[in-house]
Amino acid sequence: MMRTHTCGELKPAHIGARVTLCGWANTVRDHGGVIFIDLRDRYGLTQVLFDPADSKPAWDVAQTVRGEYVIQIEGLVTPRPLDMINPKLSTGEIEVRANRITVLNRARTPPFPLDDEAADKVAEDLKLTYRYLDLRRTKMQHNLIQRHRIINAVRTYLDGENFLEIETPILTKSTPEGARDYLVPSRVNPGLFYALPQAPQQYKQLLMMAGLDRYFQIARCFRDEDLRADRQPEFTQIDIEMSYLTPDDIYRLVDGMLARIMRVAGHGEIALPIPRLPYDAAMNRFGSDKPDLRFGMELVDLSDAFQHTGFKVFGNVLAKGGVVKAINAKGLASLSLGQVEEWTRIAKEAGLGGLAHIRIQADGAWKSPITKFFSDAEKQALAERLKVENGDLLLFAADQAGVANPALGRLRLLAGAAAGAIAKNKFAFTWVTDFPLFEKNEEGRLQSMHHPFTAPHPEDLELLASDPLKIRAQAYDIVLNGTELGGGSIRIHSPEYQDRIFQALGFPPAEIEDRFGHLIRALAFGTPPHGGIALGVDRLVMLMVGEDSIRDVIAFPKTQKACDLMMNAPAAVDARQLRDVYLTVNVPEAKPAEPPPPPAG
Ligand code: AMO
Ligand code: AMP
Repeated sequence: MMRTHTCGELKPAHIGARVTLCGWANTVRDHGGVIFIDLRDRYGLTQVLFDPADSKPAWDVAQTVRGEYVIQIEGLVTPRPLDMINPKLSTGEIEVRANRITVLNRARTPPFPLDDEAADKVAEDLKLTYRYLDLRRTKMQHNLIQRHRIINAVRTYLDGENFLEIETPILTKSTPEGARDYLVPSRVNPGLFYALPQAPQQYKQLLMMAGLDRYFQIARCFRDEDLRADRQPEFTQIDIEMSYLTPDDIYRLVDGMLARIMRVAGHGEIALPIPRLPYDAAMNRFGSDKPDLRFGMELVDLSDAFQHTGFKVFGNVLAKGGVVKAINAKGLASLSLGQVEEWTRIAKEAGLGGLAHIRIQADGAWKSPITKFFSDAEKQALAERLKVENGDLLLFAADQAGVANPALGRLRLLAGAAAGAIAKNKFAFTWVTDFPLFEKNEEGRLQSMHHPFTAPHPEDLELLASDPLKIRAQAYDIVLNGTELGGGSIRIHSPEYQDRIFQALGFPPAEIEDRFGHLIRALAFGTPPHGGIALGVDRLVMLMVGEDSIRDVIAFPKTQKACDLMMNAPAAVDARQLRDVYLTVNVPEAKPAEPPPPPAG
């Protein structure tokens, strides 16, 4: 046995015991005569004392130990002197007086400090190059431990609900989830490619057709898309599908799962059921399909109040069927001019002609170049509906609803942050339901808002020919604090409907057959009504541990440019490997990858 205890374990109850511990030398402090080494492992820190009076040979070796050496010590658990008790450490009441030490391995000086506070300021690329060192940090270990616990809780919960965990292929065929595929050439099928799954979407539907009834998978997904703080090229979903369900069954199931996850993550109880907000209401009230409900500042529709306004900017928009909406940015009347200019720039970027605003000063006076155009009735309507108080700032958006809502939604988030109204330790879940089935892409063509297997509301289907953008889908997202955690839908289970949707999306018949023939055929063999959802594990854990980036909750994440700096992937392959899969590389100006920075020390 190399160790009798871990470094987080020893308590006053162990006093008098002889123990053997292993770990990294977190710090070495020479106190003239005696040496203290804080020994660290995944479980915690233990203070080890080397006194030449206990063992001169051990003390000699201890003097050679540097930070991150891997050592084994043997010694006696003793109480710390009263004035040296450290209540912040689980082992803070004891120390170990060592009589033996073995250096198991020496270490070069790490290229960056491994304590959380200092490491937070180190360039991320350096930390990703030495990710195994970064992962030694307490915070990163905590994040990965919480990730494990959350996934574990999900497995137990779903098992208890009769779900079966079933693996689906990684080498597969393209399935549309809105991103580019990662492709893998087939050696034994010259010129043909697998696609890595963007999601196990079709397989899980096929499992319902196979009668497995309740499926889940902690599924790795791959999407070649532009990366952001909450997007990685490979990520993990809690992927769920069930037969004979209504959206309510999914809401209830996921509500219970999230309540359990919150408990496991140490955030206590949440009120159930999680509120449900139809997509239209979310857009109208919050200007977002993933509203942050931790604070108010809702969008207020003032169109009727300004129907006969003398203010041309509003009047012109209303005459063209647009809307006038506003938010009350509570308490922000003295926002700096620079800040207002910045928000105006953002409003314009979001498509507005400008950003009309009114400062309600401390003395109650309304300060704005536009109030002179407002009638008393208009002012009164503003004051009442926006619940105006002294010190408030009113922000207006006048445009077609499709522009005004999202623009004001963005400003709402900025105003909430500026007013300090968004509490970091608050958790506001919401369902957003009844998404539109289709949206227009940049070329003006119809595309699925979720994916083409999503079922429409039956009563809306007659709009397919006349007004497809009005069709509501039986699709829902689960949102936490303004982040989309997951999304899903009831699926189409009739081959004819599925075929009609593919046609409406403009897929040529040959392409429908080529890409989805298997699914349409399978639907024809007696498919039960089914549906499901997928939640992003990385985003979920990120929010549960209070990080801002999913990179902090993934053991080996990729950079913004989709690179693994530690493994140096992606990388060139040798000519023979390319020949094996019948590929030639044709890059106009291939730049060699930059070598990682040299190690320090
Ligand atoms: P969707 O595409 O909405 O649905 O994905 C579900 C959830 O997966 C997470 N997610 C990501 N996380 C990190 N990096 C990414 N690049 C990334 N992309 C998505 C998000 C998202 O909400 N097959 C459907 C689900 C279904 O219909 O059942 C699907 O994949 O948290
Ligand atoms: P203008 O008449 O263009 O000088 O605009 C008067 C005020 O209305 C300015 O503060 C503009 O920023 C603002 N404004 C202009 N267009 C819009 C719009 N579409 N929505 C909200 N405010 C606007």
